[in-house]
Amino acid sequence: MTAPLRPHRRFLLAALPAGILASGCKGQAQEPPLASLSVPPLKMVAPFPVGVCVSTGNFEDPTLLPLILQNFSQFTAEWQMKMETILKDDGSFAFAEPDRIVDFAGENGVRMHAHTLIWYAQKPAAFERIDGNKTAFQNAYRNYIAAVAGRYRGRVVSWDVVNEPVADEGGVLRECLWSKNLGQLGYMIDAYHLAREADDQALLFLNDYWLEKRPEKRRAFLHLAEQLLKSGAPLQGLGSQTHLDIGLEPGSVKAAIKDIASLGLPIHLSELDVSTRFTRFDGEGDGQKATRQSRLVHETVEAFMALPERQRFAITNWGVRDSDSWMQRPPNPPGVNKPLLFDAEGRPKPAAAAFVAAATGR
Ligand code: G3I
Repeated sequence: MTAPLRPHRRFLLAALPAGILASGCKGQAQEPPLASLSVPPLKMVAPFPVGVCVSTGNFEDPTLLPLILQNFSQFTAEWQMKMETILKDDGSFAFAEPDRIVDFAGENGVRMHAHTLIWYAQKPAAFERIDGNKTAFQNAYRNYIAAVAGRYRGRVVSWDVVNEPVADEGGVLRECLWSKNLGQLGYMIDAYHLAREADDQALLFLNDYWLEKRPEKRRAFLHLAEQLLKSGAPLQGLGSQTHLDIGLEPGSVKAAIKDIASLGLPIHLSELDVSTRFTRFDGEGDGQKATRQSRLVHETVEAFMALPERQRFAITNWGVRDSDSWMQRPPNPPGVNKPLLFDAEGRPKPAAAAFVAAATGR
């Protein structure tokens, strides 16, 4: 991993109008019009890798690609390194799209975080067909992880080996196709060992969401991580997706990051966005919502910066421009939710200024 360049602090302060710092972080200052915001490239100012989710279509987009290359030093495939892309119904593997993403990252000196090997939400036909056939299922599971993790050995720095294993309610683990056939902990323990066998270099992460807004879910996530570690599974990092919303209580992100970091593992804030669609604030103007969003982004990055450097794996944004966000895709209405750091025209928002302010200790 190459450490990001660290421009002189003076450059940073000159780039950020004082008003935006106050309104974005702590004060009530009026939001300057977006056109007046000049925010330095994120990857140039952050003393940690700044990631973004990508898909092959982004590389052909002349307005988006420069924004990606200027601001981000790490990629996560938004969906094209998952079973839904790789595993065909007949059980064959299709690697053209994930290969394109990994190749593009390598050609542009961008670090690659791979997402994700095993996810409850992906139930491909090739596995559904052998549901209940223990031997066939175990063999197919082993073959999938060996083929996919093995293919990118030495080309990705990390994997989300297991994604979203904890139920949203009740502090319990999800039942899923994998737990049904391989055991509740068994499918996860196997996945980490198989991923390690296939790739002896990548950092192996456990990744989940709502660890800020649901303390019970966070406790279950940390208990699971401790169980995996005790079992000898080569778990090496914890991903907190950090899908936030402007209704979140101030301080809850900071408390969550501190808690998750208590196991001492590297922390990846792996899918940062801040939904501005929150019923309680529907009547508020965009400026007020932008201020709430900026405050949350500032709290998040500030809490990440408070971690020891060895635990600061990366902060990944789940998209570049509001219009690129999964929150603007069907069934969601386009153009309503504005969860990201850049607006639909690619201009940095107050949230981007807040990201930079916190990353530079302001
Ligand atoms: O681009 C194709 C389009 O060409 C095609 O016509 C259409 C219908 O098949 O599919 C389009 O691709 C879809 C893609 O999103 C872009 O919209 C995929 O089918 C769809 O599966 C994919 O959904 C992704 C989802 O994970 C499932 O993989 C979202 O982009 C992605 O943002 C979302 O990301 C998840 C994380 O992996 C885990 N944490 C939650 C997060 C948000 O749900």
